Amino acid sequence: MPDEGCPLKKKRSRRGFIDIMLGLGFMGSTASVVYPVLRYLKPLGPSGAQGPMKLTKEDQAKLEREHMLIVRSGTTRILVFEDGQQKLRALDARCTHEGCTVQFVPGESLIWCACHNGKFDLDGRVLSGPPPRPLAQYSCTREADGSLVVNTDRKKEEA
Ligand code: FES
Repeated sequence: MPDEGCPLKKKRSRRGFIDIMLGLGFMGSTASVVYPVLRYLKPLGPSGAQGPMKLTKEDQAKLEREHMLIVRSGTTRILVFEDGQQKLRALDARCTHEGCTVQFVPGESLIWCACHNGKFDLDGRVLSGPPPRPLAQYSCTREADGSLVVNTDRKKEEA
């Protein structure tokens, strides 16, 4: 006698499906808690930029207007800004803690990460907060034709 119509077997397969779905839900919610904790405990490694990068005229105009700019070189975000003495500086814009984009706070002469209130000085050294390492520094030069070049291949040594 075929047991396709057996209500007990149907009930068992439905129960198995529900068990699997509950297991997946439990694993997903566990991973959503564990992953951020692991990222917090083991911060990101240093990022790499690719070669010298000439700023466009639009970038230069924005830099003159706002005194700061974030540009990309490959996958690297670079914060270019003008300090109080009108000296151009360039730092890796990726926070060394969990990778948020940092910003220049001209009034306080510091680099600030809004994610966990990490603070760096204008040379990229950690002042306070959870970032484990300083921000990488890049040299920024003005060419004879007035254009600005961020020398991402001449990365200064991290302290
Ligand atoms: S990502 Fe946590 S302080 Fe920047």
